[in-house]
This record gives sequence, structure tokens and C-alpha cells, in this order.
Amino acid sequence: MHSFAVALLLSSAAAFAPKAASRPTVAVAAMPSQDELKKQVGYQAIDDYVTSGMKVGLGTGSTAAFAVERLGMLLKDGTLKDIIAVPTSVRTKEQAEELGIPLTTLGTPESRFSKLDVAIDGADAVDPALNLIKGGGGALLREKMVEVCAKTFVVIVDESKLCDGLGPGFPLPVEITPFCHEHTLRKVAALPSLEGCEAKLRMGSAANNKADGDEIAVTDNGNYIVDLFFKEPIKNAVKAGEELKATVGVVDHGLFCGITSAVIIAGKDGISEKFPKKKKFGFF
Ligand code: A5P
Repeated sequence: MHSFAVALLLSSAAAFAPKAASRPTVAVAAMPSQDELKKQVGYQAIDDYVTSGMKVGLGTGSTAAFAVERLGMLLKDGTLKDIIAVPTSVRTKEQAEELGIPLTTLGTPESRFSKLDVAIDGADAVDPALNLIKGGGGALLREKMVEVCAKTFVVIVDESKLCDGLGPGFPLPVEITPFCHEHTLRKVAALPSLEGCEAKLRMGSAANNKADGDEIAVTDNGNYIVDLFFKEPIKNAVKAGEELKATVGVVDHGLFCGITSAVIIAGKDGISEKFPKKKKFGFF
């Protein structure tokens, strides 16, 4: 485990300087960048949770990309063998292919008919019960499909993703069908458990919620995404998930409740790990 406590290094030269002029030289260890934090948790998740012979779900996003990188590295140098992975997006699939990671999809003999040992992915927000908002990168449907099939689902985040309540910190993505999408958007925004949200159709790239284009964003599955913006925390994330799932036209949503086995968190004081009160180790 790394420690990023600020290091004070007193120059030995200071000891020989005249007292009045004596000023200790202070070298402050640089805080790791957000990217470095993401890399730490990505690498640690592979090192701690993946062993040879496993079936592995590979997440999507800038943090998950480091886990994919590490997996490729350990396969290449022979530390890991006989891994088969299931990617959760086209871009993760492409990255894994470039690294020579053997891939399959769910439902195949190679995936042990969808019995994955572990899935590793980032998240946009993590609440104290380890419920998540995911889908900032537009891959929520495939992520959920793969991650519910894993015996152990490991979430990797930097500490900026931790929150007291889901909603205000990061908009909740909902994948909907293109057919009658304005209708579905209104239905979703009017759900009782989502009261007060503002619904916006994702524009531009599906891989972020930045409205970086004039065309409607299209997911890997050919669907659209509505991002729900909240001022107050969602009161009951489980109920909100149920109401969304019961809305015709909604394909799936970015609330991942009750499926986290562990969260690895990188922050200024180092890496820590959280587990749900009731441990989720076992096939869902
Ligand atoms: C992809 O759709 C998302 O669920 C990502 O896992 C999530 O947005 C975290 O992404 P970053 O690691 O890039 O923050």
C-alpha cells in the first residue's frame, strides 16, 4: 500500500547554516494526479482479485481501462494464464484485443455459461451502502449484464466518487429505446421516486454526458440515453431502480444496487477498501 502523506525533508545543509539564516528546505511530495489514483486501483484490483484460470468481466471507462491494461501486462509476462474475459463495451473490447486478452461473451462455454469469477469496473458515484451510479461512459447496460453474472464484483474509484447520497453529484443515466424517446423521457422524469429531477437527452458522444455534439448520442446497443439531474439525493435508490425498470421504453438504468462485493478507493492518504455490510460473494 502506498502512502501519500506529505513528506517533509529537512536539508542536511540547513544544520550547518548560521542560526539566524537557517530555513529548512521543505520538499513536498506531489499529490498523485487523478489519473495516477485511477491507475493504482485498476492495477490493485487485478493483482488482488484475479488469478489464473478465471473468467473475468472487464468494465468500461478511464479507471477500468487501467485494470484492462494490467491484465494484459500480467498475461503477457506469464504471471497470469488461461484467463478469458467478457468486455462491457466496444471500446473495452478493442483495448483488450490490442493487448491480446482472450475474449468471449456471456452464455458461451468459454464464459462457463455466464458464471464469471470476478468483474472489475469503475463507477460515477458510490454511496455509503455501496450502491452505485454508473453509465457516465454510456456502457451501463452491458456493464450491468456482465457484472450481475460475477461471483465477485469489484468497484474501483478515486475518492472523488464517494458521496453521502446518489443523485446530486453525478446525473443518473437511463438507456431508452429510440422509438418514442420523447415520450419515455417524460415518463421517466415523472416517476414518483425521481421527483424533482431534470431529464436531458444525451447529445454528441455516448461516452460522456457533456453535450459535445448536435446529434443524439447512440449507445453500443443502438439506444439513447437520458441523463437525470438531481438537486437532492435520491431518497430510495432501490425503489427508483424498480420504477425505472418497470417503465416501458426504458432498457436499463445506471443504478447498481446491492451487487457490489468490494470497493477499492484511492485517495490522498493511500488506498483503502470497503465492503458491504452483507458481503456479496456468490453468483447473483
Ligand atoms: C461507463 O459507462 C461507466 O459506468 C464507468 O464505469 C463510469 O462512468 C466510471 O468511469 P471513469 O472511470 O471514467 O470515471
